[in-house]
Amino acid sequence: MRYLTFALAKGRLAKTSLELFEKIGISCDEIKSDTRKLIFVNEELKLKFFLAKASDVPTYVEYGAADIGIVGKDTILEEKKNLYEVLDLGFGKCRMIVAGQDKMKDIIDEGSSIRVATKYPNIAKDYFYNKKNQKVEIIKLNGSIELAPLVGLSEVIVDIVETGTTLKDNGLVILEEICPLSARMVVNRVSMKMEIDRISNIIKGLRELQL
Ligand code: PRP
Repeated sequence: MRYLTFALAKGRLAKTSLELFEKIGISCDEIKSDTRKLIFVNEELKLKFFLAKASDVPTYVEYGAADIGIVGKDTILEEKKNLYEVLDLGFGKCRMIVAGQDKMKDIIDEGSSIRVATKYPNIAKDYFYNKKNQKVEIIKLNGSIELAPLVGLSEVIVDIVETGTTLKDNGLVILEEICPLSARMVVNRVSMKMEIDRISNIIKGLRELQL
């Protein structure tokens, strides 16, 4: 039997994913230990796990370096890789939104030319260019996106909101909703055919947990 390899997005999603896997009998104790190791193996079940930066998970899965990935819908939409999205895992729920200072409400409605700061340029482009048919300038940042309208880098931001605390603490409000987000399971296209039984069992197990 060949190894089935899982790529997990580092951080909160990985922890909850591992808890779900444990509930369906897939465990990997080694991954919980305090180590700098990158790959963890369950020899008995012939499984391998690795933690990767969220934005890299779809790449590992598209190329088949991982058969299965657990990653947020935001990353899937942004990275636009060729893979199967097979399951909404129902956790890590948040929203992709447009936010800014309250006074931007009118300006954004007028359809004026504005600057949009975001970690998600593809999602922002798709939303403004294709859905709203609005010409905007997209500025790519890598974190602390809420800073941009506060220091005059952009009029609005496209970002994730979970509790709303970061927006509130910085005097920003949600101007528009783009889409709901949550953790998803993605599968490499070839693995889906070659390992259909093992992968289907995992999907079935995870689905039953949601009932
Ligand atoms: C994310 C997101 C928001 C914040 C939203 O940032 O970009 O800044 O969380 O969460 P809240 O609505 O619960 O306040 P993250 O913590 O990933 O850090 P980053 O700013 O470096 O991207």
